[in-house]
Amino acid sequence: MKELSRVVSSIPPSETLAVSDRAKALKAAGQDVVALAGGDPDFDTPDYITAAAFQAIENGATHYPAPMKGITPLLEAIAEKMATDNGITVKPGSDIVVTPGGKWALFLALSAILNPGDEVLYLEPVWVSYPPMIALVGGTPVAVTLPGEDNFRITADRLRAKVTPRTKALMVNSPNNPTGRVITKEEIDAIVEVALENDLYVISDEIYETVIFDGRKHLSPGAQPGMAERTITINGLSKSHAMTGWRLGWLAAPTPIAKLATQMNSQTVSSAANFTMHAAVAALKGPKDTTRAMRDEYQRRRDFMVPALNAIDGVECANIEGAFYLFPRFPNSRRTSAELAEALIDKAGIASVPGGAFGRSGEGHVRFTIATAMRDLEKAVEKLAKAARDL
Ligand SMILES: Cc1ncc(COP(=O)(O)O)c(C=O)c1O
Repeated sequence: MKELSRVVSSIPPSETLAVSDRAKALKAAGQDVVALAGGDPDFDTPDYITAAAFQAIENGATHYPAPMKGITPLLEAIAEKMATDNGITVKPGSDIVVTPGGKWALFLALSAILNPGDEVLYLEPVWVSYPPMIALVGGTPVAVTLPGEDNFRITADRLRAKVTPRTKALMVNSPNNPTGRVITKEEIDAIVEVALENDLYVISDEIYETVIFDGRKHLSPGAQPGMAERTITINGLSKSHAMTGWRLGWLAAPTPIAKLATQMNSQTVSSAANFTMHAAVAALKGPKDTTRAMRDEYQRRRDFMVPALNAIDGVECANIEGAFYLFPRFPNSRRTSAELAEALIDKAGIASVPGGAFGRSGEGHVRFTIATAMRDLEKAVEKLAKAARDL
């Protein structure tokens, strides 16, 4: 048989899925495993959104949507949301593409701007999918390592050290998966400075925008002076409205980029689902209290988990500012993060994601989700307290 795709073969299998599979197998075998590996909110999609989808189906929104890149009321609702919440002005008719999930919006963004050999900077620890996506589109992923000892802080010098004449773009994600950091104004300034200095595009992944704690404000790079023409903003409803299964995301970008993203969409997935788009209009135009209630509950869980983990000998957990992941480390352990995740399942019955999955600077850490019920989190703390010495 002839050789299969070299590019796809070169992509590492998802460690997240490997741990989840193992946890499921142990559960099926009757073991008591607390699943803290996933990234799916434990809340149900709010009723008014589900009702809008049923209504749309009854009204016949079961054909291809028109326009394919997003029905007009949705494009308008997104533009309005971005103006109000993000301070970004986009034209609904030409600067937005609705996608099946935020993930596809990221892929479209990279597809629209990269040529073979272009380098893309990503910040490490990094969400597992960025480097493979860059590689799939023919680019070269380049890590900018952010040290945990410095609270994973972004500085202009750290970015600049990795810029070459081939650097095309920088990917940023705030609130951050997996570190829980939220970008500060100083960090935004550093990103803007380096982007302008080197004529870089910035892909800003804002999917956790609404999961932000202690009254912090979410800042969008695309709203900064000089950034509108070089920023692609990615967002979606998966996390803000507990809609992971609906597959609804979008990108907002300068018109020429959005045009190529639309072209790419039209030759691949065609569109997001029509009735999901109608549900998304309801989500964006509807009351904000369900999103706020979810945020408050995540904050309550964080307020329980961070001190509870730090009270366990051998566990250190930084406070998080947003998103719904904790990124504890185990300073007394000699294990790699993959071994730690294995040991956490075997000895404590907790499924986590090994920090190494998020790049080398994630080593020594594991990622726990707090998008799971409080009783599971309490159980996890109890189990970990008993097993920590054996890790
Ligand atoms: C950082 C980040 N970006 C994007 C996504 C994609 O979200 P979706 O494709 O489910 O909308 C996720 C999902 O876990 C994520 O963690």
